[in-house]
Amino acid sequence: MAQPGSFAEKVKQQADIVRVVGEYVRLKKTGQNFTGLCPFHPEKTPSFAVHPTKQIYHCFGCGAGGDVFKFVMEMEKCSFPEAMRVVAEKCGIRLPERRERTPEERRETQQRTVLLEIHTAAAEFFTKQLRETAEGKVAAAYLEERGITEEVITAFGLGYAPGGGDALARQLRRHFPEKHLAASGLSSQDGNGRPYDRFRRRVVFPIANESGKVIAFGGRALGDEQPKYLNSPETPIYTKSHVLYHLNNAREAIREGGFAVLVEGYMDAITVAGAGFHNVVASCGTSLAEPQVALLSRFTQRVVVNYDPDTAGIAATERSIGLLLEKDFDVRVLALPGGADPDAFIRRHGAEKYKEALAASPPYLDYLIGRARQTDLSSVEGKVRALNFLLPFVQRLPNRIARSEWASRIAQHLSVDEPVLRESLRRAAADRRSEIKARPEMVFSTMRPAERRLIKILAEAEDLRGNLARVLEAGGQHRGLATEKIFDALITHALAGAVPDPGMMSKTLEEKDSRVLFGILFEQGAEPTQAEVDSCLTALQRRKIEDELSAIQKQLEGTLAPSDLREWLGRKQRLQRDLSNLDNS
Ligand code: CTP
Ligand code: MN
Repeated sequence: MAQPGSFAEKVKQQADIVRVVGEYVRLKKTGQNFTGLCPFHPEKTPSFAVHPTKQIYHCFGCGAGGDVFKFVMEMEKCSFPEAMRVVAEKCGIRLPERRERTPEERRETQQRTVLLEIHTAAAEFFTKQLRETAEGKVAAAYLEERGITEEVITAFGLGYAPGGGDALARQLRRHFPEKHLAASGLSSQDGNGRPYDRFRRRVVFPIANESGKVIAFGGRALGDEQPKYLNSPETPIYTKSHVLYHLNNAREAIREGGFAVLVEGYMDAITVAGAGFHNVVASCGTSLAEPQVALLSRFTQRVVVNYDPDTAGIAATERSIGLLLEKDFDVRVLALPGGADPDAFIRRHGAEKYKEALAASPPYLDYLIGRARQTDLSSVEGKVRALNFLLPFVQRLPNRIARSEWASRIAQHLSVDEPVLRESLRRAAADRRSEIKARPEMVFSTMRPAERRLIKILAEAEDLRGNLARVLEAGGQHRGLATEKIFDALITHALAGAVPDPGMMSKTLEEKDSRVLFGILFEQGAEPTQAEVDSCLTALQRRKIEDELSAIQKQLEGTLAPSDLREWLGRKQRLQRDLSNLDNS
């Protein structure tokens, strides 16, 4: 498709198809290729492949395939020149000065111009309706009730679309040709060729592009009619995912303040800006799209995500964090209390309280750790789940230092083994994008401190080692622990009177065990004493009894023959006695 020597050819040579496709599809290196789930047909196992040297993609499932431009055309449903622009932008390649245009390009430019004029005219029509008609007064009352002042109405160009059905169409027809009106999406024709308006009986929010030209509208129902919001369709001048509501008016404040506040909806943006925080933009809908992130990154690299604190908003917050991190944003999260969206919060508590909340909004990882800690962290499985929730975010950080810092914080907060966690992150990074999977050995720190301490003593404390090894050999306090094999190896050495050599041991231990051992050897601690050894042993003993007790409890909760029942109850009593003896010893 790209002619040799053409700009397209140049873009294609410089573009990295793996990177471009990787922005849409989660790719994993598999041999020479990268593979992932095909974006063009539903599938559960990956049959979509990208060839990095040939710079092509192919799906072995549905047969889709082509070069980087074809891919973007299919994904973005756009033309070749647009795809070229997208690819150039993604890869940081400068576009050449505009050349002579083809007749088709000229027609497109002309159409855009007319469409912009149509939208300007429509915006005027809507504002007039709000101010001058009886019907409009009802809408104005609605806005007033929602606390929107006259000043804000003017600043945001709010209007009203009457219920009549074709008032706007009739007005616009006098000035603009039918084909352009149809392309504007503002009015269409019914089966009999009669025009009717898209927006009827709605408060209208003009949506401007970054240079302030109205390119679309959002309309809110006055009551509970569905849909609550209706938006312009995609048109030659409006692509929803490329626009941030209020960006045109927020630019200055964003630059000045050094950050943007990202909210979900029109009303949120209006109220937040109305309260004096002009650096607010709305993604309009729950999910932030990648082009919106790219757009925002031209103005700032710092964002406070302030989505609704409902299920949809929380999910959208997490998705948005991921997208923003990939583009190297510094992300904080404001989760307002009381289930209030920003609009409702400011109405209820005022601008001052919002300002405080904004200033106190935590870095995204603190927010995410908070979310992760809401799950049960007492079991290994729970921790693995929490890790798997958090790690993809860390992994998406392009900055290595930040990745490493956050790895430490996660290790601390979830008490997981930091060296192991780091190692996994490092590997996953080498593997490009493949999702990191937490493994149980990462969370070995669920082991009691006593367990770690005894391992260290066996390995290093010459005067305590021999005796401890004999006690363990006889008492088996370490049996059943996840670290049993490490204990066994150390005990064998100690009983043979040898000084354990971790380097040698790691050759016989499984890799996960030797990693845990090394982690423990790096820990610092005070000189051990016999008293400490004794209390560690007691702790292990107690844990063992507790584990047995809970296993017995499980048995007892099932159905048992009467004789078995007596047997289990007897065991339970004996263990409980052992336990209280331990506590009193
Ligand atoms: N939205 C939409 N279509 C819908 C519902 C919502 O496009 N049917 C978009 C709108 O941009 C809306 C945003 O999603 O502003 C957030 O939706 P929601 O939280 O439901 O609305 P609010 O902004 O809270 O609006 P309001 O306060 O008027 O109810
Ligand atoms: Mn709301």
